[in-house]
Formats: sequence, structure tokens, C-alpha cells
Amino acid sequence: MKHLLKLLDLTKEEIISLLNLADQLKYENKHGIKHHHLAGKTLGMIFSKSSTRTRVSFEVGMYQLGGYPLFLSSNDLQLGRGEPIEDTAKVLSRYLDGIMIRTFKQEDVEDLAKYGTIPVINGLTDLYHPCQVLADLMTIREYKSTLEGLKLCYIGDGNNMANSLTVGGLKTGMKVTLACPKGYYPHQSVLDFAKDFDCFTLTEDIYEAARDADVVVTDVWASMGMEKEIEKRRKVFAGYQVNHELLQAAKPDVMVLHCLPAHRGEEITAEVISQHPEIYDEAENRLHAQKAVLVTLLKDK
Ligand code: CP
Ligand code: NVA
Repeated sequence: MKHLLKLLDLTKEEIISLLNLADQLKYENKHGIKHHHLAGKTLGMIFSKSSTRTRVSFEVGMYQLGGYPLFLSSNDLQLGRGEPIEDTAKVLSRYLDGIMIRTFKQEDVEDLAKYGTIPVINGLTDLYHPCQVLADLMTIREYKSTLEGLKLCYIGDGNNMANSLTVGGLKTGMKVTLACPKGYYPHQSVLDFAKDFDCFTLTEDIYEAARDADVVVTDVWASMGMEKEIEKRRKVFAGYQVNHELLQAAKPDVMVLHCLPAHRGEEITAEVISQHPEIYDEAENRLHAQKAVLVTLLKDK
């Protein structure tokens, strides 16, 4: 594994080994065992979109691993004034040991990896959110002890989270059912990947999707960069809410996950969030899962 650009690039074994390492690093972290695997290493963190969890967990994660994180807002970089990705990649590769990038186009992340010579980590694009889904899988394993054979249900927009969850869930042996309105389906490359799996279902019926689910996941109706569409989307997604009534269709011990930030009263009710504190374990696990990614990509490089 040279980069983390999207989960489609990883084998099942690579995903499981990241999750195992994440569990170990979490254990060490909780027991005060130092793990300075990245002493002397630097990580540039390019942000073209807002972030709370991704920024803080990567920054703290690098610190805990003995390395040094640099927060680079794209507004302050020459990238924001039109310097090409190619030159940015070549130059940053001369200073840094790794780059994490949160941006709009997946192509920009892929180009950063193509033109640079150091590992690149996708911290969210319009298309994928692989770091979040690694944390989600880690959290599901913590609560359910396994991933194999569990039913993962996603309700809402066929966005970056839907895309990465579909790939991550199917690769690790889960049954994946998505309920998305027509016209808001996951990306075609994800549907092409999923079509070979009998345990993949795409429906417009949220109750069918949630039936006997072990895990129910949702995400915002309008992702970053889509703010102008919010009024239209509120109408399209009105029936796609994770609420008490919907969860009656799922297993009695269903987990609920949300990558956060959440819009209470839209894709999820305040009541459901308050009854499912695993959402905050999921947020915490961003730290541990990403440390596993950092160690895997940057150690010994
Ligand atoms: N879930 C997530 O990526 O959160 P941030 O946007 O706060 O980084
Ligand atoms: N789908 C959301 C995820 C935020 C972490 C977005 O892209 O804004």
C-alpha cells in the first residue's frame, strides 16, 4: 500500500490489517504506551474544505506518533491561486514525508499521488471519504466483534460516504443496502464494483433498506460545496430520515453511525443521536484508524 486514495484500491487483507493496527494503537493510547513510530516525520495537511474531526485527529495523531503535522489551508497556498497540482506535488515531495488532502475533485488527489513521490491520503473528496469509513468499520467491529455477514444500511444521499461505505462494507464481507432517491445514487464506478455482489441492494424504500439491519448509517442531505442546493434537497430527501420509527425495522441492537457534522431534524433526529453514543466512538476512532494509516504508509519510508 503506497497511498490511501480510495478503498477500491485496497484489498480486504489490507483493510483488515489497518483495522487490527488501529485496535492496537487505540489500546496503547488508552494505556499510556508511547508509540513514536513516526519520530522525525512530517505530514502536510492540505484543506480546501472545512473540518473539525479530520484536521484535529490527523494533527493530534501525528503528534502522538512523534511526528510533525503542518496545517496548509489551500487559500494560503499558491494552489489556491492556480498553481498546478503537478508542481505542488513535486515541490511538497521535497519537504514532507506524506500529504493528507481534503478537497473537491478526486482527480486532484489522484494527481497529487501521480506527480509526487510521497504517500498521499484522501481526507475527503466529493467522491470518497476512506478515512471515515475505516473508522466506521473499526467501530462496528468494536461493537459487534465482526464485520462478516452483518447488514449495513445507508439512508440518504449517494455521496462520498455512501460510496466509501459501499466499497468498504462489501470488501469486508458485509451485506450492504442503500436507500437513495432516484437521481442521487452512488457513483457509477461504485455501482459497477457492487454489481458483482449478491449481498448489495439499492432501493428507494428506506424501510426495506433498514429491515433487520445491524448498522444504520446516514449523512447530510447537502455535502460541502452543495450549499446552494439545500432547499431543493430538503424536498427530495424529506422521506429519508433516520428516526425512531425507521429503527423499529432494524435489529433491536442496531448501531447507528453518522460521520458528523449532523443536521438534527433533517437526515437524523436529535432523539436518535442522543440514544446512540456510538456515534462519538466513531468520531474518536478517526484518530486511531488514521494513525494506523499513517504508520502503514510513512514508517520505514
Ligand atoms: N466526519 C468528518 O470528516 O468530519 P470533519 O468534516 O469535521 O473533518
Ligand atoms: N458528505 C459530507 C461529509 C462530511 C464529513 C460532506 O462531504 O460534506
